[in-house]
This record gives sequence, structure tokens and C-alpha cells, in this order.
Amino acid sequence: MKSQFRLDIENGLKNSPKTLPSKYFYDAIGDALFVKIMHLPEYYLTRAEFEIFSTKSKNIISKLEINKDQPFDLIELGAGDGKKTKAFLKVLLDEDYNFKYLPIDISQNALDDLEQSIHKEFSKLNIETIQGNYFGVLNDIKTNTTPKVIMFLGSNLGNLQDHEAQDFLIKLSNALQVGDKVIMGLDTIKPKDVVLPAYNDSQGVTKAFNLNLLNRINNELEADFEIENFDHSPEYNEETGIAKSYLVSKEDQEVTFNGDNIIFKFQKGEKILTEISRKYNDEILNSFLNNTKLKQISKISDSKNYFNSYILERV
Ligand code: AVJ
Repeated sequence: MKSQFRLDIENGLKNSPKTLPSKYFYDAIGDALFVKIMHLPEYYLTRAEFEIFSTKSKNIISKLEINKDQPFDLIELGAGDGKKTKAFLKVLLDEDYNFKYLPIDISQNALDDLEQSIHKEFSKLNIETIQGNYFGVLNDIKTNTTPKVIMFLGSNLGNLQDHEAQDFLIKLSNALQVGDKVIMGLDTIKPKDVVLPAYNDSQGVTKAFNLNLLNRINNELEADFEIENFDHSPEYNEETGIAKSYLVSKEDQEVTFNGDNIIFKFQKGEKILTEISRKYNDEILNSFLNNTKLKQISKISDSKNYFNSYILERV
């Protein structure tokens, strides 16, 4: 039987125009490249969101309206290395909030590292890691009536197509009880000269991140992509706020998936869409929340207004 990975990749390449799902960027090499991306001078997203949590965590906490006597679950979807979250956890612990931290990630490796560093830095913190994808986990938390705060940071919602993001927000809303809160980190719509370099850095790390998907396909699906025959090409539309990353075929070429003898043809200049990174404003977010029981109750921004932490309440 074909693996889900093989099915998704082969189906994407059968599409016209061709697509490849961005969720497959994150193998061990992709994880390491993404950590590098977060430190790039051009990649403003992480720095802006970190600024919010390191200077405005108290403000965020006050908006959550948590009763200190009532234990709650702090659930993080897609925890990664936790750098931003740790700034937030520190303030919660200093102020004696009574909570359990539940980071959820697809990568067990990332969770193990996070758990270890949390034990070192916050020995008192009650932590339970959960390996899985968020859609699955949303189903699991539905039955649990402990008050919840969900963290969904890093503008990760932006990787979803608009209809998928709306579907995700409905599922999130349905998994929560009245009064539960969400902290949603979203990149803002801003000019091209700021956004494009974030996806086309001068050191070529983002290019390597994008091309690594072809390496992964070669390794795991016995394909023979010639990596040098593809270019990295990001685009950004200021009107819609949507950034798209492509791999572009530098010549007419064929790629064989030796695992099952499928050949894909690429024309010179042909583009494969590998990632969508949507940016948000209040209007777009509110329109997506329209079909849900989530309401925006606050918005906290960094000093440059590059990034927003939205506080949503399940009403
Ligand atoms: C982690 C999905 C928010 O889209 O900005 C960074 C991933 N891709 N550089 C983003 C990414 C290329 C990132 N997200």
C-alpha cells in the first residue's frame, strides 16, 4: 500500500499547476533549516512575536481573565522550540497561576527536546507532551471540561488555504467550552519590500529549506530529482496578503519515482507551488471567525506592527 506521504506527493505532482504540501518540509534537515530561518535577519516574524511575549505577557495574561484558584490547561498547537512560549510561561509561573502545559507537535523529537529544556528551566512546571497532528488532538480535548487556553503561534494558520483555515477555526471552536481562550499569532499584511526578503533571504537558507523537500522525496520515495535543476521563487501579493513559494524547473526534464515507476514531466519555467504563507488583518480574521463561536476580544502588537497576538474567546 502507498504511504500517505507518497499519495500526497504524487497527487500534488499530478495537479496542474503542480503543488507539493508544505507540511512535508519538516524532516530532521527541514527542522534544522527552519530553526536557522527563525534567526535570519530578514525573517521578522519570530523576532516580532518574541518581542510581544517578552514585553507584553502580563498584558496578554490580563486579557485571558483567568481566576488564579481555577486550574487550567495551556495547550500549544505546534510547539517547536518553545522560545516564545517560555517567555510567557515564566510570567505565568512568577504570578502563581495554576496550570498544566500541554505542547502538541507532530515531531516527537522536538517534544523530547522541549520537555528536557522545560524541566531544566522551570522545574516546577507541570508539563505533558502530546505527539500528533492538531486536528486529531482537537477531537481528543473536546471531552475534557478543564478551562483551556490554546496557543497557536508563529502565523502557522497562514500555511493553510483560506477554506482550510476556516475549517480549522470551526473545529477549534467546536473543541472548546464557553469562556475558553485562544492566543493566535498572525503575521500582518505589509509591503512587499518587508515580506519578500523574509522568504528569499540573502544567505539562501529559505531556498535550501524549499529545495530540501525534493531531497526528502528522493530519499524516501526513491525519486531522482536533480536538485540543481530547480530554483526557489517566492511571490507576494500586497492586495491579498498572500505569499507563495514555488520551485521552478530550470529546464525541460523528467523525474522518475523508481519506487513505483511513475514519471513526471516538467517544462522549463514550470512552477510547483510548495507553500502558502497568508498574512492577516482584523477584517480577514473576523470574516473567517464568522462561522465559529470564537470572538476577537483583544489584539496585542509588536512595536513595528509587524505581528499580532490575537486573543479570541469561545462565546
Ligand atoms: C512557520 C509556517 C509560519 O510561512 O512563514 C518560513 C514557514 N517558510 N520560511 C512561514 C516558513 C519559509 C513559516 N511558518
